[in-house]
Amino acid sequence: MPPVIADEKNIARAAALLKQGRLVAFPTETVYGLGADASNPEAIKRIFEAKGRPSDHPLIVHIPHADHLANWARNIPDDAKRLTAKFWPGPLALILNKKPEVPMEVTGGQQTVAIRMPNHPVALRLLNAFGGGVAAPSANRYCRISPTQAQHVEDELGDAVDLILDGGACQVGVESTIVDFSTDKPVLLRPGQISQQTIEAFLQVELMTHRPDSSVRAPGMMAVHYAPMTLTLLCKAGDLDQIVLDNIKHHKSVGVIAYKQRINTQAAIQIITMPQQADAYAQQIYAALRELDRLNLDIILVEQPPVSDAWSAINDRLAKATRPGLI
Ligand code: TXA
Ligand code: MG
Repeated sequence: MPPVIADEKNIARAAALLKQGRLVAFPTETVYGLGADASNPEAIKRIFEAKGRPSDHPLIVHIPHADHLANWARNIPDDAKRLTAKFWPGPLALILNKKPEVPMEVTGGQQTVAIRMPNHPVALRLLNAFGGGVAAPSANRYCRISPTQAQHVEDELGDAVDLILDGGACQVGVESTIVDFSTDKPVLLRPGQISQQTIEAFLQVELMTHRPDSSVRAPGMMAVHYAPMTLTLLCKAGDLDQIVLDNIKHHKSVGVIAYKQRINTQAAIQIITMPQQADAYAQQIYAALRELDRLNLDIILVEQPPVSDAWSAINDRLAKATRPGLI
């Protein structure tokens, strides 16, 4: 189903569909979400069917205002509240202890729930028109690259979704930062644009980066995720030229996502040169991977960008989308 422009009429239609238990894809500032009424277990089941995602993997509930937090979570620590006051609406999801009435279908059977208030005018207008919580994973098929444009959603999910609202390209481009406040100490479960150092400096608290118990299901944390169909290697800048040449020699069609290196071969079938700034790079990386994946090349080579706090979300996603490119 082709995306429709996210005007007032279509947003009202989308809210009505959500109330009927249908699926609506909508833009957020991070990636497009595949939304359903978070209080309706039948609607939630449709999300898992459409994505081909195992039903024990929990979803994020999107809310129109921080005031709604108390409808979904209980025992909310002060630090969690401080983060919402500072960073919401924004690319930050919190894991909190769930209220008993939150359906188990949303939380994958766990006693905790993920919640965020997105910072996108279309998402907020939709959430306000709907008036409740919308459970929304990224609107891609299970383990594939998240969509950052409405067209990507149609390419991924086709008619499995009842309406796709087109709000243009997502500004952030990688999924939200997730901080788990359900145990004693906060844990960074997924890095995002709001970085570990930013949160630690604001809270004056160190974040753990792994949960002590590893039973928590978080598909974004699995080794293979966000992956193109094409074999994709992550190469050190200094190795890139050589790896390109080796592949050309073996008659392979090659795509390159370059950061800095101006590779000296013209033979690479496709070269996408990425921005030097982390935010701009993040905004474009999924679209770049998708573009090269569509060409059915033999191999995609991604040049390793810088490794620092500002690049941690990008490096996390690249590590999951690729295998190491060894010489
Ligand atoms: O930026 C985003 O967060 C996007 C947009 C659409 O909001 N959504 C998104 O959803 O990335 P999804 O389902 O693709 O990723 C949600 C992540 C998963 O890794 C999931 O396991 C984790 O959040 N998660 C959700 N609830 C959880 C819980 N109760 N405990 C631990 N992890 C949880
Ligand atoms: Mg996802």
